[in-house]
Amino acid sequence: MPQPSVPSDPIASITAQTAAEIAESVRDLVDTGKLAPGAGLPPVRALAEQLEVNRNTVVAAYGLLVQAGVAVTRGRAGTKIVDLQPLPQEGFANITGMVDIASGNPDPDLLPPASKALAQLAADEPVLYGQPVIDPDLAAWARKALTTDVGDAELTVTAGSADAVQRLLADSLTIGDAVGFEQPCFLTTIQTAQAAGYRPVAMPVDTEGLTVQGLRAALDEGIRALVVTPRAQNPTGVVISEPRAKALRDLLTDYPHVLVIEDDHFWQLSGHPYRSIIPQDHPRWALVRSVSKSLGPDLRVGIVGSDTLTASRLSTHIRSGAMWVSHLLQRLTYLLTSNPETPAKLEYAAAEYAQANARLVAALAAQSIAAVSDDGVNAWINLGTIASPIVEALSRRGWLVRDGAEFSLDHTDDAVEHIRVTIHQLSTIQVEHFVADLTAILAQEGS
Ligand SMILES: Cc1ncc(COP(=O)(O)O)c(C=O)c1O
Repeated sequence: MPQPSVPSDPIASITAQTAAEIAESVRDLVDTGKLAPGAGLPPVRALAEQLEVNRNTVVAAYGLLVQAGVAVTRGRAGTKIVDLQPLPQEGFANITGMVDIASGNPDPDLLPPASKALAQLAADEPVLYGQPVIDPDLAAWARKALTTDVGDAELTVTAGSADAVQRLLADSLTIGDAVGFEQPCFLTTIQTAQAAGYRPVAMPVDTEGLTVQGLRAALDEGIRALVVTPRAQNPTGVVISEPRAKALRDLLTDYPHVLVIEDDHFWQLSGHPYRSIIPQDHPRWALVRSVSKSLGPDLRVGIVGSDTLTASRLSTHIRSGAMWVSHLLQRLTYLLTSNPETPAKLEYAAAEYAQANARLVAALAAQSIAAVSDDGVNAWINLGTIASPIVEALSRRGWLVRDGAEFSLDHTDDAVEHIRVTIHQLSTIQVEHFVADLTAILAQEGS
């Protein structure tokens, strides 16, 4: 395919006169690859002189580009074309020859086996256009499973929690809107905020979950939506306590316009009750539950219960794009979850995750290293010192771990002194080696 020739100064080709025309011309240059991500736009004065227009016209044009998410203004550094850098992703590591305890993945051996369900699927009739978007059996199962927590609210099927959170936010927000996220925060949620151009407002999490002070400050900053994890918070493993949930509900009562999204991803495996922060009769809310941790991340199935307006926006959004979540996946989810052997398998998996993490936390405590893992598949280890050199030292000994800094929205918290590890696939000996290596590295660092 012929490559377009790139002029040395693409901006010189602009001849527009109004703010809207200048912004359009810059967008054309970006969309045809002539202005690269991260390219700087000329200073306002220079472009105004080049085009022989008023400086305010160029200021307005740059404002339009920022509003459209095409450019960003960095104070004295000027205005630049947006450059989305890839952020770290869950489960993704391309380093070989290391023991990967950074993944955040469920244990494949603890997922219910799919072979029988797949054989059943093969016998099903093909699903065509025009059929109900939710598989009727899955709908009935989801209604039963969620009824205590969402009553008769409408249910929607999405491609997992990440898809649900992204669409829910997109349906209610525009670029630049402030959104409250837990700090430290699940990596995929940070990605969503960055890609969509929202203004993330960090809401600290402590041992009882999202802090009241953090939520209050975020509400004062004008957030229009927030995302919280009621249990198995990722990366900390924290569960919201009942007194904390009540205090958060009380506070949110005065903010009925704020969309409260609860990402309850560990619901089928959690050893803790679901404690909601959504006030009674709150007009804008969504409870998101995926089957990624319990049945497998590749199912890409999430169930969302939400208020009527949110549900209608969400289903319209899905209908206009993906149209529906494949019935093959919905059906497989239903067949797996309704298998009479599955409840016992999930109970076993839940106990395995909890015990593996408790054993690690106890082994670290014996070496005076503080760690928590109240719920979920990860443990959050407090190193009491900046994590990056420890992460490097661990990698030299063959351990791949997640630097806590990756989960921090603004690096103002102590996440930078933590690492997150997922150890349930390690043998007892490997866990002992890991604890011994970490202890030795920390002792060396402190000497
Ligand atoms: C906080 C949180 N939410 C959601 C998920 C699952 O996301 P999805 O359903 O998109 O696979 C995870 C998985 O690690 C998680 O930690």
